[in-house]
Amino acid sequence: MDLAALLDRIADDVATDIGRGVVADYIPALARVEPGRFGMAVAEVDGAVHGVGDWERPFSVQSMSKVFTLALTLSRGDGVWARVGREPSGDPFNSLVQLEHEDGIPRNPFINAGALVVTDELARHGDAADALLAFLRQESGRQEITVDPEVAASEAGHADRNRALAYFMASYGNMRHPVPSVLDQYVRQCSIAMSCADVARSALFLARHGLRNDGSRLLGLSAAKRINAVMLTCGTYDAAGEFAYRVGLPGKSGVGGGILAIVPGRCAVCVWSPGLDARGNSVAGVAALDRFTTLTGWSIF
Ligand code: DON
Repeated sequence: MDLAALLDRIADDVATDIGRGVVADYIPALARVEPGRFGMAVAEVDGAVHGVGDWERPFSVQSMSKVFTLALTLSRGDGVWARVGREPSGDPFNSLVQLEHEDGIPRNPFINAGALVVTDELARHGDAADALLAFLRQESGRQEITVDPEVAASEAGHADRNRALAYFMASYGNMRHPVPSVLDQYVRQCSIAMSCADVARSALFLARHGLRNDGSRLLGLSAAKRINAVMLTCGTYDAAGEFAYRVGLPGKSGVGGGILAIVPGRCAVCVWSPGLDARGNSVAGVAALDRFTTLTGWSIF
């Protein structure tokens, strides 16, 4: 498979989708991104990386970070599963509605409520965002990866929904640390800026059944399988069914316009284009991954 040629073809095929959708504006700094951007990178399990378009340009990873915090948390044990479920929510990523019915236990680790719990769990071992940065720098080989201070400040200034989620869970006893501290770590983790190439390389442990780029083991086979499974069922929120139908891979989106997808045993793919659909997933990103699995046949089904 000539992946470089394939990516060129995909970029052509989705050209009319680039710029469609709406750039996230509930975090004001994200609204300043140019909607016409598009990049895509594929990192193969042997370490080769191919890309097209803006594949080396950093953007705000936002909720794609939730995959990595979950992985770091599970690398230290699976106690977090007593505090968060593994079912798709069918509701928007920042919804409050299920939390009261379900006694402050979020449906899954990828909606905001669940990710706040995961960050709180990882924070038992030190600052969660710092741990995440160290991991991402090591896996991507790029020490320059950092938190975008403008996005972090903007997000911290518009975090009332996340604050409400965290305090609500605290009222059920499902927060170990003070809410302001958890929120600060969560906001910084979401505000990390990385390119498609960085994200794809950093996520290869999920394509290698738990093995990091240096060959050491981050996760056991079972934990790696479980993260992929939860990405498939919950990674694109209330559009997870449609994403599985169109793409057929474990995937995780972010409101910065990025989507990470995993082909177990083969590669990690990251695509970025800032225009989002009504459920917060990149329009051109989903279209590109749809083309990717159609052209390669590399879906998990
Ligand atoms: O907490 C938030 O709302 C954002 N930092 C992340 C949300 C997000 O990326 C949802 N993904 N599509």
